[in-house]
Amino acid sequence: MSSREVSFLKQNGLDVEGIDREALLLAFEEEMNAGLAGQPSSLMMIPSFISIDKPVKTGTPVVVLDAGGTNLRAAVVKINASGKAEIGAFSKSVMPGTKGEIDAETFFSAFADFLMPIVAESDSIGFCFSYPAEVTPDCDARLIRWSKQIQVPSVVGKMIGSGLLRQLAQRGYMRRIVILNDTVATLLAGKSAGVSRDYSAYVGLILGTGTNTAYVERNDRITKRTDLDKTGSMVINIESGAFRRVQQSTFDKIMDAATNDCGHYSFEKMISGAYLGWLGYTVLTEAAKAGFFSATAAEKIMSWKMVSSKDLDDFCGASPEVDNPFLDAMFGEDDREAVIRLCTPVFERAAVLTAVNIASAILKTGEGKDPARPVCVNVDGSTYHRTRTAQFRNRVQQELQQMLLPRGIAYDLIRVDESPVIGAAVAGLM
Ligand code: BGC
Repeated sequence: MSSREVSFLKQNGLDVEGIDREALLLAFEEEMNAGLAGQPSSLMMIPSFISIDKPVKTGTPVVVLDAGGTNLRAAVVKINASGKAEIGAFSKSVMPGTKGEIDAETFFSAFADFLMPIVAESDSIGFCFSYPAEVTPDCDARLIRWSKQIQVPSVVGKMIGSGLLRQLAQRGYMRRIVILNDTVATLLAGKSAGVSRDYSAYVGLILGTGTNTAYVERNDRITKRTDLDKTGSMVINIESGAFRRVQQSTFDKIMDAATNDCGHYSFEKMISGAYLGWLGYTVLTEAAKAGFFSATAAEKIMSWKMVSSKDLDDFCGASPEVDNPFLDAMFGEDDREAVIRLCTPVFERAAVLTAVNIASAILKTGEGKDPARPVCVNVDGSTYHRTRTAQFRNRVQQELQQMLLPRGIAYDLIRVDESPVIGAAVAGLM
């Protein structure tokens, strides 16, 4: 890479090679332990009240609602006798609150309306809710705050399951709901897909619009709760996207200041799909001001409000569609090369930090020491599976190996299509 771009990025605190992986692993460990003990921590370590050893009813349909960062999805799911999920009546819409601000009742009624065509199929609903929410022992959940720039402020602090149940009752349906985070669902989907293998522990990772991680913890280590059966274990939602002990570059700070939750979710804002394009765009506007582009390209960049993660990744990953903004005639070849040199490190850094995140969760399980019984990590999310720039997935895997091989930890990265839907069904049928 041209030293001019490298030193510009470095001067502004974006230095991929300079990331101290070991220090970050230690900081993650400290924050996770503090979160479990109820001490101040950027990691909430939220108990899910879901244990992975309960039997799952087979042959019975359950209604699933999946509220993700971008999409709202619903389905009727059955787990058959061999443990395989049969997904039917699948439908997809837009996540309420992603297209401008709405109020709580509009929000809950959008969910209820969306479920109407399938609600009669089962008395139980498995609700995968991909936001930070404090779960109650009966598996309802109170929204702690919004992440991923969702705009429904009046739902913060409200019980999500009860809000939906009220709307369903008004439509004549009394139902039972189990709410779980998408990482918890992903972990459960990994467990049910991997039944034939002898895994020592399970982790669920999402890297899509947002990011987060879940793992299984012994109850006697969740010392902030005094009401747990000390001999049991349950899945913990780390809310790893909120990890704060990571060095922000100038670009991260500029972008963060423009988000609607400035100062929160620093880690997610460095690695997930809702932000990578925005971050790249921030790098480009600063680089344009510093004279890295021709006058026409600089003018074009400054005229944009944003670049999408997909457009930036398609361009830097050498597969732009014809309408890609960087193919605009106002960019010359030198400008385009500068875009690639300036923005590829944004993706490379995300890969390194993702690996740190996965390694931290694997290490936290305390398992994987016997190569015959690896830790199963089920990874879901479009950012992880579809990002091409910097050979994203390979880079994550190489980095992970460099962290875990010397420690003698065996792990297996798996992928289960429709993990959030399957995991929510499993939870609803437990
Ligand atoms: C949310 C998490 C969620 C993750 C992945 C984050 O923004 O806070 O609860 O698991 O995105 O969807």
